[in-house]
Amino acid sequence: MPDSSPPPRAALVIFGITGDLARKMTFQALFRLAERGRLDCPVIGVAKENWSEETLREHARQALMSSGQKFTQAQFARFAKRLSYLSGDFADPATYQHLARRLRGVSRPLFYLETPPSLFAPIVEALAKAGLTSGALVAVEKPFGHDLASARALNAELRSLLAEEQILRVDHFLGKEPVMDIQFLRFANDLLEPVWNRDHVASVQITLAEDFGVADRGAFYDAVGALRDVVQNHLLQVLALIAMEAPSGYDADALRNQKAEVFRAMPEADPARCVRGQYQGYRQVAGVAKESPTETYVALRLGIDNWRWLGVPFFIRAGKAMAERVTEVRLVLRRPPPLAFLGRSTHADYNQVVLRIDPDPGLRISLSSQGSGSRTIQPVHLDLSFRRELGQPLSPYERLLDNAMRGDQRLFTREDSVEETWRIVQPLLNTPPPVHRYSEGSWGPGQAKILVRGHPAWQEPWLDSADFPGRS
Ligand code: BG6
Repeated sequence: MPDSSPPPRAALVIFGITGDLARKMTFQALFRLAERGRLDCPVIGVAKENWSEETLREHARQALMSSGQKFTQAQFARFAKRLSYLSGDFADPATYQHLARRLRGVSRPLFYLETPPSLFAPIVEALAKAGLTSGALVAVEKPFGHDLASARALNAELRSLLAEEQILRVDHFLGKEPVMDIQFLRFANDLLEPVWNRDHVASVQITLAEDFGVADRGAFYDAVGALRDVVQNHLLQVLALIAMEAPSGYDADALRNQKAEVFRAMPEADPARCVRGQYQGYRQVAGVAKESPTETYVALRLGIDNWRWLGVPFFIRAGKAMAERVTEVRLVLRRPPPLAFLGRSTHADYNQVVLRIDPDPGLRISLSSQGSGSRTIQPVHLDLSFRRELGQPLSPYERLLDNAMRGDQRLFTREDSVEETWRIVQPLLNTPPPVHRYSEGSWGPGQAKILVRGHPAWQEPWLDSADFPGRS
């Protein structure tokens, strides 16, 4: 992999360092990067809490412990030395003047906004007024807009203050190793690429099932729902990597152009081809409205009108409180003709290529074979465990922060793609289909079966471990 990226940033400034994301993800990712020698700059946390530097460091220690990170006193002391804290109101210009003093002599900071999206533009504006944006990068967390109009407005606001090359829109799925692997699997393997098109693929099924509800995120989730929470961003990004043509170069735009081409070829989603569900018990969650119409499950059919994919349905389903936790992409290939040599009209099953993203990333190829000693067809699998073959991957946030610090845009979403993905789902926001109830621990509402009528049924996801087939 060429390392043509510019030198790392001279400081990392995290707005909202006292929040949930930092506690759950950021401290651990930074600690691991520092241990690998990939973080070589001060980290300044900014938040409104009236904390001392010592409070922040103790908070970081607790966060590392609760994320299961092992460390020695000496390792932590080394890490803690990098951390400093600035208490200030994000709306107060004085906060940015203090920050400017701290950053004196630092020419290329990375500002990472772990704040509610309504603060993105005001913070960047204040940074610009304090003279801090020239040469800087700004990373923003999701959600990036809540519909097409708001995403456009946010892009316009940020773009009036920054160049596109300065903006890093975070989608943590793009930092997942198996998602990054998609282009390698597809384009580095002549075994796969020739069948990866409408001549061979009957349908594509993308599943993100979670075996837990919305827990303590009721108030946040009720205003969002499954479509906005994981489909418009994570799953459409995965879909683009599955469907795109090979990038013509290493640079970020070579990859992002190909993804944008996929989105541009996708018609808007049709509400008649979408099923929404809500798990029983959701309305009792703290923060959720008593009559909430928000979906905790969504299944939809999308298409891509280009030479490679015309006529191949892309089915997506995502849900909370489902039977299992599994995220996978499944290509269901066309059925072979009947096997006359078996003496009667027998069809082999579909071959399938399954990329499992979570948990236990791997690749499965389902084939048909002869049942032992009989003239019957038996399904068999070739399973590949990425962890066993390729080693333990970096966590998504470690990968994303590492790339962000080096200004490498490949794992971040571009303005046009974000707007295209909102365009695609917008009709479902304008005219949401009715919500069907489903039991917790199920695979969602039965109505989702109707969506795939005339195409291969929803396949049971790949659940056993690739390391120990047959066991989870
Ligand atoms: C987040 C959503 O973006 O992605 C969550 O807000 C969801 O609701 C999560 O659970 C899924 O990501 P992961 O990495 O845990 O599979």
